Amino acid sequence: MQPQDLIRKKRDGQALDGAEIAAFVHGIVEGSVSQGQIGAFTMAVYLNGMSAAERIALSLAMRDSGRVLDWSSIPIEPGRIIDKHSSGGVGDEKITLLVVPLAAACGVYVPNLSGWGLDYCGGEIDMLDSVPGYNGAPPPDKFMQAVAETGGAIIGPTPDLAPADAKIFKVRDVTATVESVALITGSIMSKKLASAPRGLVITVGSGSGAYMATVDDARELAESMSEVAAGAGVASVMLLTDLDAVLGTAVGAAVEMIETVDFLTGRYRDARVTDLVLSVTAEMVVLAGLADDVTAARHIADARLADGSAADRFARMVSALGGPADFVDRPAHYLEPAAIVRPVFADEAGYVARMNAKEIGLTLVALGGGRKRPEDPIDHAVGLTDFCQIGDALNDDKPICVIHARNEAEWERAAARVRASVEIAAAPPAPLPPIVIDRIERRP
Ligand code: URA
Repeated sequence: MQPQDLIRKKRDGQALDGAEIAAFVHGIVEGSVSQGQIGAFTMAVYLNGMSAAERIALSLAMRDSGRVLDWSSIPIEPGRIIDKHSSGGVGDEKITLLVVPLAAACGVYVPNLSGWGLDYCGGEIDMLDSVPGYNGAPPPDKFMQAVAETGGAIIGPTPDLAPADAKIFKVRDVTATVESVALITGSIMSKKLASAPRGLVITVGSGSGAYMATVDDARELAESMSEVAAGAGVASVMLLTDLDAVLGTAVGAAVEMIETVDFLTGRYRDARVTDLVLSVTAEMVVLAGLADDVTAARHIADARLADGSAADRFARMVSALGGPADFVDRPAHYLEPAAIVRPVFADEAGYVARMNAKEIGLTLVALGGGRKRPEDPIDHAVGLTDFCQIGDALNDDKPICVIHARNEAEWERAAARVRASVEIAAAPPAPLPPIVIDRIERRP
């Protein structure tokens, strides 16, 4: 069957069988399927969806487009290999940079294969790429060695692990085909299964900053991924999260690295970020068999955060993959600053009632911090910091955020967009719901 026949079938709402999906994915990796055909296929899937059987076949074909790690020769307890992922949200990807070292400090081994930024959400590997010398695409043996030595490693797409995802990802990023349960399931689960963990914790966000607009959509995605995990023999916990606002205070590659270091070293910890980091880590600690329940696990994680072990792990993780050994001591020394760094104030004083986090993510893309075409490099220096939170009182002294831009014109455009994305009210709004809304656990 030619790629166009398969695209036509999906376009017309028919189901594809496992062999057809495997052949298409194989064609993507060997280069016989063009970028245009990938775009048409992803749009057909976006519009018509996929059955559970198709989603499983897609995830496994994408996993098998590269190597699946074999940990048997590495002297670590296999039951302690647990990974995490986020389904995407504005400000949400830095949670991986916080959880991986913290879980490692608790005794978990975390082989984390993450991604680039996707549409209006950032990417862990774009953040780490802002650190000079960091190699986010090492060969699999080096990745495994880094995990064994430091307890965790975060890498991005490589030609060895789930290479089909990298190719599809780049096209989805710029073709408005990101927000699809089937495509997110395939993308996330192919990467997660390629590093062969025994357990998985995935946060699935909903709200204006996430790919899933509603909690029901997030639940559908969570069920879809947990079904694929169980089918592959992997225990999973899906945490449904509220991402209706920017998570944390920074959005952008280098500025989120600074927020990461500030958090790990205790210089500044946003309350919702702290809650999410401890919740995810606690689930990983339980899945690794290092605590009986999440309450006990949360105490362990809290202690490892407070005593500096997580910051120490992060420093070792960065240097194990080529970054500077003293990055955690002086991150600003290593990260490129933007030329213009200036606060933007609201037109009127009042309380932050709501924000359109997707628009805020798109503002970062427009500043150059995201991609407009698959081959685009991103600007690591631009971003938004000191972002207000829902309920904050804004006035002449308290800005909406600080914009880091390349030039004045881009600062002005970003300022107009940020002002339009934040709704100000005369009275304080109702408090946000807790960051973790619900939990779905499935054992194989
Ligand atoms: N994260 C991924 O790795 N892939 C997606 O499609 C969305 C979030």
